[in-house]
Amino acid sequence: TVLVVDFGAQYAQLIARRVRECHVYSEIVPSSMTVEEMMAKNPKAIILSGGPSSVYADGAPAVPQGLFETGVPTFGICYGFQAMAQALGGEVARTGVAEYGGTPLEVLDQGVIFTGLPQSQTVWMSHGDSVAAAPEGFLVTASTRQTPVAAFEHTGRGLYGVQFHPEVLHTEHGQAVLKRFLEVAGCRPTWTMLNIVEDSIEAVRRQVGDGRAICALSGGVDSAVAAAIVQRAIGDRLTCVFVDHGLLRKGEAEQVERDFVAATGVKLRVVDAEERFLKALAGVSDPEEKRKIIGREFIRVFEDEQRAIMADGPVQFLVQGTLYPDVVESGGGTGTANIKSHHNVGGLPEDIEFTLVEPLRALFKDEVRRAGEELGLPPAMVWRQPFPGPGLGIRIVGEVTSERLAILREADAIAREELSRAGLDRQIWQCPVVLLADVRSVGVQGDGRTYGHPVVLRPVTSEDAMTADWSRVPYDVLAHISTRITNEVREVNRVVLDVTSKPPGTIEWE
Ligand code: XMP
Repeated sequence: TVLVVDFGAQYAQLIARRVRECHVYSEIVPSSMTVEEMMAKNPKAIILSGGPSSVYADGAPAVPQGLFETGVPTFGICYGFQAMAQALGGEVARTGVAEYGGTPLEVLDQGVIFTGLPQSQTVWMSHGDSVAAAPEGFLVTASTRQTPVAAFEHTGRGLYGVQFHPEVLHTEHGQAVLKRFLEVAGCRPTWTMLNIVEDSIEAVRRQVGDGRAICALSGGVDSAVAAAIVQRAIGDRLTCVFVDHGLLRKGEAEQVERDFVAATGVKLRVVDAEERFLKALAGVSDPEEKRKIIGREFIRVFEDEQRAIMADGPVQFLVQGTLYPDVVESGGGTGTANIKSHHNVGGLPEDIEFTLVEPLRALFKDEVRRAGEELGLPPAMVWRQPFPGPGLGIRIVGEVTSERLAILREADAIAREELSRAGLDRQIWQCPVVLLADVRSVGVQGDGRTYGHPVVLRPVTSEDAMTADWSRVPYDVLAHISTRITNEVREVNRVVLDVTSKPPGTIEWE
């Protein structure tokens, strides 16, 4: 295990992911954790993350007492680099010159960390303070124009640090730098997909024993991979429930019912609940109201199913596709404002007691995808872009009706098809298509006047959906989507593009 000590930057998760990309398992821990607690995890190496604060700021997070005396190889990044320098008798100064963005770095001495890397390279900087003097016994290995001490190391003590951010892609050789550190720390690359999948199957087998479990499938990759792992572990003692709320995109229900079952052999109960959801949504156009209704109806349907399954004997476990970022974010400190009430399909009914089985708790999204491939799930499911639990229900601005759903489903299918054809699937985080059902505009088609609805294309790029930018989809791809939608979907006579970043706009419109 490599511990990534989180000093409160959004970079800690990125660092943990990069470490795992080197096939070494990593875990994020808060900087408030004591050294004893850290040592109990038996770490092979420790990485101190960047952080938003200056080491001189009030309440600046400190390096846990005694960390540098443990003998565990440690790598400091940005704030972690400065905190290391300060704790060991070096000097950190407010130089008044900040460095942000791509910066040329000169390697003065390859040392251990820059072995085999070019002398001049571009690194990503983001700092106000600088290390003015390295602690005694440390070798300064790199500098930039503004920052004479941009990297240092003390190989005898196994301590290393860099001012720049090796974890971001803008740092040319960042991944190589991290890899060098992991190598000298003696971390072996054993975190491979096959091992991960086998270990988690084994862990589920131990946890569930000869008990039974249920799992709600949403059509998304997380619940599918979680279910596939549990199926491998306990076979038919897992029952999956798929509530088709009628708010899915074209072809998605079939994908779950047919392809997923064929690939995994999962025992599946499908509930066609479209009518029930549409009835509950009738006349409602307020977004939060819609979300609440969908969440509530979902839980009711799920509870009915659960009762039916329990008639065959007790069920003690509920499978959920919780991912590592959720675990970090819900355990980690301050908590963020609830912007929208997120509804997770498979949300735990409050009054029922289950033990949770969460086989993906240690995984990032890209790892879940690779696990899905390893398990042989349908590619369309494994590579499906994020899709909200309330589905198309929150992509129709206005009341949700089956006619409107049919219109949106067609337009969405065309957009997805054309974006895939253009090879943009992996570049685009997701592309909601939104129907402005209460808006009409005048158009002309052939010789006739039309009075139809607009749809909005909302293609975004993002790392984690917390922030996003609108994707610069090539004009000819947009033109093609627009032509096809307006030709093939009779009720739509206008296609518009959303060019708002997040913030201020959220990714979804509701
Ligand atoms: P927003 O619109 O908040 O969306 O920028 C961020 C990401 O979350 C997805 N999303 C949801 N996912 N249940 C979900 O499972 C929800 O209620 C929900 N609302 C939004 C959205 O698609 C985007 O990826």
